[in-house]
Amino acid sequence: MEKKKSNISMAVIKRLPKYHRYLSELLKNDVDRISSKELSEKIGFTASQIRQDLNCFGDFGQQGYGYNVKDLYNEISAILGLSKEYKHIIIGAGNIGQAIANYTRFDKLGFELEGIFDANPKLIGLKIRDIEIQDIDNLTSFLKTHKIDIGVICVPKNNAQKVCNLLVENGIKGIWNFAPTDLIVPDDVVVENVHLSESLLTLTYLLKDKEEENN
Ligand code: NAI
Repeated sequence: MEKKKSNISMAVIKRLPKYHRYLSELLKNDVDRISSKELSEKIGFTASQIRQDLNCFGDFGQQGYGYNVKDLYNEISAILGLSKEYKHIIIGAGNIGQAIANYTRFDKLGFELEGIFDANPKLIGLKIRDIEIQDIDNLTSFLKTHKIDIGVICVPKNNAQKVCNLLVENGIKGIWNFAPTDLIVPDDVVVENVHLSESLLTLTYLLKDKEEENN
């Protein structure tokens, strides 16, 4: 399918994973096609928003037919870069690092966990899902022999930049950062930050807003 634009807005890109998730559920339930109106009822975006979003990438829908769920799912997967598998490593095997390592759904999406590293001697040698936690001092030699796409940073804020530099110096191009700090990276490296507390503060705003509305 022909792509219409390459300069897709970040707002649209941020919505794509949600389309991907819902379409995957529709596929599992053997739904072959869906109209933008039906998709809108499930997903919570307006039908016109959906048509606009999907139009950014090509002519997906057909008047009177709607969207072919499998085609749309495959296309969105490809747009999200999910046509290939990604190998990742986790740095920091504390609360967050262990939770991510134990989350098997990432495997199903095509993310293969290749290694876990920590600086705490008490953790080194322990296993999470058959993967032994290695000494951070092994990271450089590990990365010389393993092609890793993504480094997941789960260390305290004060050590995050240092760990990030180590990953970047050893060829990692994608950083998934859980530490509450803005990492500095070269132009050819991408960082995606995850901050649960920001999501929580959005919730408190909405709670406060609702309370004010009801008073
Ligand atoms: P934790 O203290 O349980 O685990 C941190 C681990 O990093 C420890 O095992 C420690 O030995 C290891 N570590 C420290 N320096 C290291 C280094 N230079 N190299 C390798 N390993 C190193 O901490 P927790 O609760 O797992 O939090 C980890 C990070 O995630 C923190 O930066 C925290 O602020 C952040 N966090 C982020 C959240 C989010 O929403 N993104 C939510 C909660 C925590």
